[in-house]
Amino acid sequence: MKEKSNFVARKAKQFKIVPMRIFENRYALQSYLDSMTAVHFVPTMGALHAGHLSLVEAARKGGGTVAVSIFVNPTQFNDPRDLERYPHTLDADLRLLEPLGVDAVFVPPVEEIYPEPDTRRFDFGHLDGVMEGATRPGHFNGVAQVVSRLFETVRPAVAYFGEKDFQQIAIIRAMVKQLGLPVEIVTCPTVREPDGLAMSSRNTLLNREQRSAAPLIYATLAKAVTLRNTLDIGDAERWVVAQINKNPYLEVIYFQIVDAERLLSVGNWDIPCEKRGCIAVKTGDIRLIDNIDFGR
Ligand code: PAJ
Repeated sequence: MKEKSNFVARKAKQFKIVPMRIFENRYALQSYLDSMTAVHFVPTMGALHAGHLSLVEAARKGGGTVAVSIFVNPTQFNDPRDLERYPHTLDADLRLLEPLGVDAVFVPPVEEIYPEPDTRRFDFGHLDGVMEGATRPGHFNGVAQVVSRLFETVRPAVAYFGEKDFQQIAIIRAMVKQLGLPVEIVTCPTVREPDGLAMSSRNTLLNREQRSAAPLIYATLAKAVTLRNTLDIGDAERWVVAQINKNPYLEVIYFQIVDAERLLSVGNWDIPCEKRGCIAVKTGDIRLIDNIDFGR
């Protein structure tokens, strides 16, 4: 019977007979998903752009049921002003998701995710002590709180995350391991604007000068990769910081070349590990992050 209803559900989806369902209530979402095939899940904070949509596309290719959440999670914002001005574009978001074959969108109000304040404190050790973790205290604890709650409701077989937030992936993997959750984590490459700037919901907040300066971040990272044979790692790091800081609209918060798995600083190019250059830059009071693969 379940087999047959799955077949009907697949056909209905193929011919777009089934509309995308929108849920605010976690129990309603859960009971809907319980009757569906393996859930492929994309958590987001909305203000969707092509980067988010690439994750949805990957989830759709997974072949099961596609669920997306849109929830601006207050517990991961260490800066109240950042939360206050975070863009909300729900109608446009839903219009973008509808043609992509999404089955369910979860748009919970805050009380639905946090009926009581979440007092859990995760311990991610070093993973949370560097880069974004060091400069945004509490941020990754909030990410782990919300993603674990979303996973609890959605119970995905597979969840999709973007490499744009490189450190977040390490945190999510550590959380999944600590909580013993049966979910596979799939990562997708960063989608960029034609000028190289990594797509981000926060890009809409940039003024004209900041927007014109911002592509220098990725251009500099890409150039640094080509300097690998001429500079040692420390000099390459300093070179990136100096290049970007020359622009009056940009100020580097950190740039570090790290072991891509453990996020430990790498002292020299010969250390045998995947290396990733991770950067955060301030423009005005907006924070942009990006990263690039430096190879092994
Ligand atoms: P948000 O910033 O909305 O991003 C949702 C997902 O989209 C994340 O996995 C992020 O890495 C990915 N993403 C963002 N920009 C991208 C780009 N240019 N290319 C590819 N993927 C991109 O990350 C969060 O929300 C939150 O922390 C969340 C995980 C939803 C928890 O609240």
